[in-house]
Amino acid sequence: MNYNIALLKGDGIGPEIVDSAVRVLEEIGKKYGHVFNFTPYLIGGSALDACGVPLPQETVDGCLASDSVLLGAVGGPKWDTLPGNMRPEKALLGIRAAMELFTNLRPAKLYPALKGDCPLREDIVANGFDIMIVRELTGGIYFGERGMREAKYGEEAYDTECYSRMEIERICKVAYETAQKRNKRLVSIDKANVLDSSRLWRKIVHEMESQYPDVTVTDMLVDNAAMQLVRNPAQFDVIVTTNMFGDILSDEASQITGSIGMLPSASLGNTKRGLYEPIHGSAPDIAGKNIANPIATILSAAMMLLYSFDLKAESQAIVNAVDKVLAAGYRTADLAHGAPSLSTTEITDKIIENL
Ligand code: IPM
Ligand code: MN
Repeated sequence: MNYNIALLKGDGIGPEIVDSAVRVLEEIGKKYGHVFNFTPYLIGGSALDACGVPLPQETVDGCLASDSVLLGAVGGPKWDTLPGNMRPEKALLGIRAAMELFTNLRPAKLYPALKGDCPLREDIVANGFDIMIVRELTGGIYFGERGMREAKYGEEAYDTECYSRMEIERICKVAYETAQKRNKRLVSIDKANVLDSSRLWRKIVHEMESQYPDVTVTDMLVDNAAMQLVRNPAQFDVIVTTNMFGDILSDEASQITGSIGMLPSASLGNTKRGLYEPIHGSAPDIAGKNIANPIATILSAAMMLLYSFDLKAESQAIVNAVDKVLAAGYRTADLAHGAPSLSTTEITDKIIENL
C-alpha cells in the first residue's frame, strides 16, 4: 500500500527525532512492501520565523489532505515572549482543532528493562504497570471562553472550563471501548466536588455505564488521582479525563516510566487520519546535538501504523525492536545516568537492525 504522511518536524529536537522515526518507517516499508510518502510542513517557531504565523494555512491543508500526520515538538525560548495567539504552542492547539482530534491516547507503561529508572520504590512497581490515558483534546479550559477585563481589583484574566454533553459522550465512548479491549477497568478522573463541568462529566460517565456491562468504571478526584499514580500505579488500566487534567497527569505518568523521552501519543477523531507525537517537548537545551531520545517518536510512528493504517504486524515489529534494544542495555543520554550512551542516530540504527 501507499501512504501519504505529513511531517511536522517543528522546533528544538523535533527535526532530529522525526528523522529517526522516518528512517524506521522507511525500513518497515522495505520489509513489508509499503510505500510511505513524506511531505514536510512548517509548524511552531520555525513557521513563525519563515512566514510570520505559527500555523500556516498550507500546513493545515497539507495535514487534512494526508493519510496521517507525524509531529516532533514545538516551542522554544526564542518565541516565549510572543503574545498567546502567536506562540508556537497555539499551532499545536490549532492543528488538533482543525483536524478535529478530540481523543488523545497516551499509553504509559513500565518497560522491564527500565525498572531501575522508575523513581518509585521497588515494591511499588514490582508488578510493573500499563496505563492508557484517554485525554479529551479539543475542549475544556484550553478552548473555553477567555479574556482580560477590568474588575474589582483592576486588571483580571480568565479562562473557562466548559464541556458539552456531546464532547463528554464522544470521549467516554472511546474510553469505554478502549477499556473493553484491555483489562476492562476504567477510572474517570474529575473534580466533581468543586466543578459543575465535572459533575456533568461524572453524570454522563454513569449514564453510559449500562452500555458497557463488561467494564468496571469508577470515579476519582484529580487530586487523589495525582497521589494514586505514585502510590499504586498498577491499579490503573484505562483513565479518561479532561484536556487539562489529562495534560498534567500524563506528564506525571511519564515520569514514573523512567523517562518522558519514552512516551508516544496518538490524537484521533472520527476518521482514520490521526496526529502522532511524543508527549515530551522540544527540549531546546539539547537541540541539534544528536543526543535526544527518539524512542517516543518512533513509538508514535508505531501507533500510527496501528491506529491509522491497521498495520498490526508492522506496528508490533517496531515495539518489539525497541524492547530488544532496551533489553540489550542500549540507552540514550536521558537514561544512561552518566554512563556511556548512544546518540539519536545510533539508537535509531540499533532499532532498525532489530526490526
Ligand atoms: C502536550 C503539551 C501541549 C498541551 C502544549 C504544548 C500546548 O503540553 O501535548 O501535552 O498542553 O496539550
Ligand atoms: Mn503536556
